[in-house]
This record gives sequence, C-alpha cells and structure tokens, in this order.
Amino acid sequence: MRYKLIFLSAFLALNLMTASAQKTGTAGDPKMNRFIGDLMKKMTLEEKIGQLNLHPSGDIVTGETSGSEIGKKIIEGKIGGLLNIKSVQKIRDVQKVAVEESRLKIPLIFGMDVIHGYQTTFPIPLALASSFDIGAMEQTARIAAIEASADGICWTYAPMVDITRDPRWGRIAEGAGEDAYLGSCAAEAYVHGFQGDDLSKNNTIMACVKHFGLYGAAEAGRDYNTIDMSRLRMYNEYFPPYRAAVKAGVGSVMTSFNEVDGIPASGNKWLMTDVLRDQWGFNGFVVTDYTAIDEMTEHGMGDLQTVSALALRAGVDFDMASEGFLTTLEKSLKEGKVTQAQIDQACRRILEAKYKLGLFEDPYRYCDSNRAKTEIFTAEHNKIARDIATRTFVLLKNENHLLPLAKKGKIALVGPMANSPGNMAGMWSVAADQKQSVSLLQGFREAVGGQAEVVYARGTNFVDDPRLDSWINFGESVGDYTRTPKEMIEEAVSVASTCDVIVAAVGEPAEMSGECSSRTDLSLPGSQKELLDALLKTGKPVVMLLFTGRPLTITWEQKNIPAILNVWFGGTQSGHAIADVVFGAVNPSGKLPVTFPQNVGQIPLYYNHKNTGRPLEDKEWFHKFLSNYLDVTNDPLYPFGFGLSYTVFTYGDLKLDKKKLAGDQKLIATIRLTNSGKYDGAEVVQLYIRDMVGSITRPVKELKGFQKVFLKAGESRDLSFTITPEELKFYNSDLKYDWEPGEFTIMVGGNSRDVKPATVIWEK
Ligand code: BGC
Repeated sequence: MRYKLIFLSAFLALNLMTASAQKTGTAGDPKMNRFIGDLMKKMTLEEKIGQLNLHPSGDIVTGETSGSEIGKKIIEGKIGGLLNIKSVQKIRDVQKVAVEESRLKIPLIFGMDVIHGYQTTFPIPLALASSFDIGAMEQTARIAAIEASADGICWTYAPMVDITRDPRWGRIAEGAGEDAYLGSCAAEAYVHGFQGDDLSKNNTIMACVKHFGLYGAAEAGRDYNTIDMSRLRMYNEYFPPYRAAVKAGVGSVMTSFNEVDGIPASGNKWLMTDVLRDQWGFNGFVVTDYTAIDEMTEHGMGDLQTVSALALRAGVDFDMASEGFLTTLEKSLKEGKVTQAQIDQACRRILEAKYKLGLFEDPYRYCDSNRAKTEIFTAEHNKIARDIATRTFVLLKNENHLLPLAKKGKIALVGPMANSPGNMAGMWSVAADQKQSVSLLQGFREAVGGQAEVVYARGTNFVDDPRLDSWINFGESVGDYTRTPKEMIEEAVSVASTCDVIVAAVGEPAEMSGECSSRTDLSLPGSQKELLDALLKTGKPVVMLLFTGRPLTITWEQKNIPAILNVWFGGTQSGHAIADVVFGAVNPSGKLPVTFPQNVGQIPLYYNHKNTGRPLEDKEWFHKFLSNYLDVTNDPLYPFGFGLSYTVFTYGDLKLDKKKLAGDQKLIATIRLTNSGKYDGAEVVQLYIRDMVGSITRPVKELKGFQKVFLKAGESRDLSFTITPEELKFYNSDLKYDWEPGEFTIMVGGNSRDVKPATVIWEK
C-alpha cells in the first residue's frame, strides 16, 4: 500500500509538472501531446482498449468499490469512465480505486445527463428555447456546471440539439425545437455555459453535443426509428446546430441510435469522420449513445465483433455500455479488422479529454465536499431559476384580458398538475430532489398570501389507464384509481362552483415526453378534456395552464377556453414562477420554438417549408388541385414564433436602407416597435428572409435573427437588423455553402406568420 501511495504522489508530481503550464490543453498543445505520448508508451494494448470503455455506474456502494465487479475492472484498467454516478463521496471513492489501485493510475472521467440544471432544475430545453433568451440559456448551463462539478461530475451528455418537426417524438422536449437558426444559437450558448473559458477549472464541465445525427427525424415520431433524408436537407436543416456546437468548441459528441444513409450513426464513417472531423474540424472525442454499438447487431450490421470494429473504424472513441470494444477489439486487431493506429487514436482522444479537464493534475479536482455543501441548490441559483422560468411561458390566448388574475376572492386550482411537485422539474432531471420542487398550489398560496383564498381539487388523473400510468412513470402507477374519472370531475366541479375563477392545471405528466415517450394522439391525455368541459359549464371564467414537453393538438381548448398559458415544465421553481406570471408580477414573453398543429394528420408541419408548385398561399381553402387538405386548412394552430403578452406590441412598416446592393455590402432593416398596451413587457422581434429564386428550391421563409427587447407601456423604439451575405447562404446541390444573387424578401414580425415584408435586390 505504501508503495502505491509513493507511486501515486510521484505520478501526480510528474503530471503536475507537465500539465500545469497548459491548463486547457488545446488540440496540438505540445505539452499535452508529450504527456499523453509518454503515458501511452507505458500502456499495454489491453489498457488502451480499457480506456475506450464507458461503464454504467451500477450499484456502487461507497467504501466497497474495490471488491465489486466494477471495482475489479477499474483495477485491471478495463474502464475509462463511469456513467451517471452521483455524489462527491461516491465519485471520490471510485476515483481513488482508479488512481491508487490500477497499474497506470489513470483517472476516470465521470459523465452524467445534466440536461436542464442539476439539483436546481431549470425549464426543459424546449421551454428555454421559448425564451429566445440566449443569455438565459447560457446561464442555466453555467449554473448546472457549477452544481454538477461541485458534486463530482466533470462531463455532461448535453446539449441535445436534434432538430425535430414531429411532436409525436417525445424527445422534442430535450431540444430547441424545429428551427436550425434558433437551435444553433442555443447549442452555442449551452456549450459556452457548460465549458466556460477553461475546461480545467473545477467549476466547468465538458459538454457533449448529441445525438449526432438527425435523431429528431425518426419516421412517424417513433423513438429510435429509421431515418432517410437527402443530404441537402441534412446540411441545410438538420446539421447546423451540431456544427454550431463544434464551432463553439464542444469537447465531445454523442452518436445517435438511428441510421443515416443506411448505416447506423455509431458505425457511420461518413458522419463521424468525413463530416464531423474533416469538414467541421472537430478534435474532441466521440462517444456512442447507450449500448448503440451493441444495437448495430439488431440493425443487421453483423455480430458484436463486426460492429465494434465498424464503430472504431468510423471514428467512435468511447463505447457507452456495450463493452463491444473491451471484448472484441484485441481479436479484431489480430485479424486485421482494425489497426493499432485506430485504437491508439481513440485512446489518445479519451486521455486528451481527461487532460483538458485537469484530471491528471488532480483526479479529485471535482470532488470538493465543501463545494458540494455550499454550491448546490443555493438560494441564488433558485432565484435565477424562478426568474428564467417566467421568461419561458407562452401566452397562447387571453380573451378579454382574463389574465393576469387579481389577488382577490376565491380561486379554484384544479387538475392533475395543480399539486404535483414530482412533475414540476420535468423529464431528465436525474439529480433533482423532487420534494424540493415548488408545486403550483404552494406557489399560488404564497403569492396571494392573505389576499385571496385558493382551493384545490385534483379533478382527474393524468391518464385513465393505470397500465399507461406505470409505463410513463418507470413502472410505477401514481394515479388515484380508487375513484372513477366521473367522480373525480364531479368533486372538482363542486369545489370550483363556489369560486370566482378557475385555474385548470392540465397536460402531460413530466415523463410523458422525453426518451421513448412517443405518442400518436397529441390531445390532452385521459379525461382532462372532460374535466375542462365540466369546468366551463360552471359558467366561471377558466384559465388553462398547459404543462407539456411537446406541442399538443389543443384545437378544442383554443376554441373554448378563454385564456391559455403554456408553461411547459419550468423546473424546481415552477410553482412560484407560474404564480408570478398568472398574478401579473411578470408579463409573459415566451414565443413558440415549434409549430403547434391543428391535428396529428398535419405532421410534419413547420414554418420554413418549401412553396411547392401548387401553393395554396393566401387563396381561400379548399382549392382543387392546389396543395391542401380536404378536412383541415394548412394553417397551424399556433405558428412558430407565436406568443402573446399582457400588453400589445404594434409593428410599423419595415424600412430597408437600400433597395439594391452588391457583394459584401450590408443591408440595414429597421422597424418601429411600440408597446401600445398598458403593461411593460418584452417582445421577441424576429427577422425572416426568403430567397425568391435559387438553383435549388428555397423555403418560404427562414429565421435569420431575433432580438428580445423590453419596452415600457407607451414606449416606442426603432429596431435594426444588419444583414450580410452570410445570412443568405445555403448548401446548394454540390453541397457548397454560398449565396446566390437575386431578389430577397426581408420580413420582420412578432411571429413567423404575422410579418412586415420588404424586398431587395442583391447582386454578387
Ligand atoms: C439517451 C442519451 C443519454 C444516455 C445516457 C440514452 O438512452 O439516448 O441521451 O445521454 O442514455 O444516459
């Protein structure tokens, strides 16, 4: 043991000398290269392959790691990192085994799904995208990194930047929605937030952009399903956010489960090497998604040895939970199916990541138990979480200014979400302590204080079928099935009838979106619509608070309910944040980052579609031989970018500073925005461009900029966007990224439908 300790300190001292001068360890850093080169010279083939193995944490018991199965593997140098292990104590314990008991003392890397906050949970990513507030997005990632790193974590499997146009796909909740431009802004913000400016600092963590690529285009919205799309669509519409993350310096990339051009992403050399590294210049490491190497056998790509070799050759470095690399690469090397250089390359990339994180310098860098006590779930973080949550809510309807509510009289708070702290944080909140989430009932009661009375009734379960309930809640049914839906609704109606106003908190439970939560029916689940109908029949004004991780087809609700506020899932401070907006302390300013369809049959429905040769355009529906449906208009229920305010924003005409321009000249588009209502408030002013004629067909409009501006009631401001040829570029049939001269329509407005247009000629 003594020998081991001496060896360790000598090893650490050596690391200190070599690693300290260059903290971040940028690619090509000679000190890092020398350090890793020296280390790799000492490594056996088995140890190199061991570094490529990312292992689930299993049931590690603090203090007993050494004797466990995982412990043995760590000691034998067969594990490079652990997945989803939580707490400084546990992580320190495991790291100690790695750096004291394995032959070469190489530290482990610890990764976790820190998706929208750590213990202080922020709104789900789709909600954060609704804020159109890049600073807020970055700040959530910054705080998540501070908390996660204070708890031992140095690597997160985020951001998820998969573009999707299909709300049937439950994982739409994890990303920024349907738009490549907004998605790219979000991707960049999250990477900066997590990684900061120096990865080796103990309060920054490495980001991992996922799931590369195209995962959000799963056919029919069924999770893990096949994807087949043109390269033009990939490059123009689905790739930009991944690329933005790479440009922002993301340290790692996660493969997706789906196939791309007939080859699963985890074995796809074109994707992982040609595009990612050669075209985009990525120099971090690639990790697979969970068991994605093994799953290639189910895809029909061969046995575990074959698919593991395929993955390595494709450019994958880290095998998450398949143990395909660990168990087959040595054999594949002997048989000439992979090369020593390929194994060395992958091993080097994993070691580089550990070096960049400063783990060689101090393997316990992220294991400061003091920080764990003082920097997690702080009052300050919660204050910020509450503030940011209020910026993500989207006001969808507000007839006769029903909202904000006055703090007076008797308020009925009804619905499955009304008192459900466990559902506040939202999906993928693995480090959250659900008991600490603020329920709506708590938020409302604290907000009104003694000024009003808030009474509560559950009204319905989320769903009527206990089996579905348990599928949603990881095998546990949480509803009350001792009463019928009718009995529960009757109880709610009798409570609500005695009140002045009814607030109905309805929607999907948190885990009804997220991974493997695909749906074909996007209406409110269970008996919730019946509950709303019964509440309306009381004749009292009804406000609907919609909790959801995806667009729902609330067409009936839009028609019948006077006020609808979409609150997504707002994180641990939801109850307070919603009360802030409902009672008017904060004016809602969120805008939809995704189109809400009228019905499921319209999907995929997205604002930046092509025109077709037979567009309906402004003509009246129905029109024979034009591109439309017999049973529903082409319109969305709510368009991309839509969201109301308690105040009214009025747009003047759009003014361009030039009618014609050439080459690299700049165009300035200016519009006057007036807050013509009674409340101060923020508006997201959106810039769209249409390229009228192209060498390939071009979308009817594309988001190219936005500004979130705050105006006092009565205030006006001129807002300008500077447009350069950069905003006109797209990938053409040769996949060349360039712009083409001609006529462009510039549009500015408060959502993608209601815009002020102006045209310009731009010559080369
Ligand atoms: C998900 C990933 C996640 C990973 C590790 C997978 O099932 O697709 O998004 O990062 O598990 O938890």
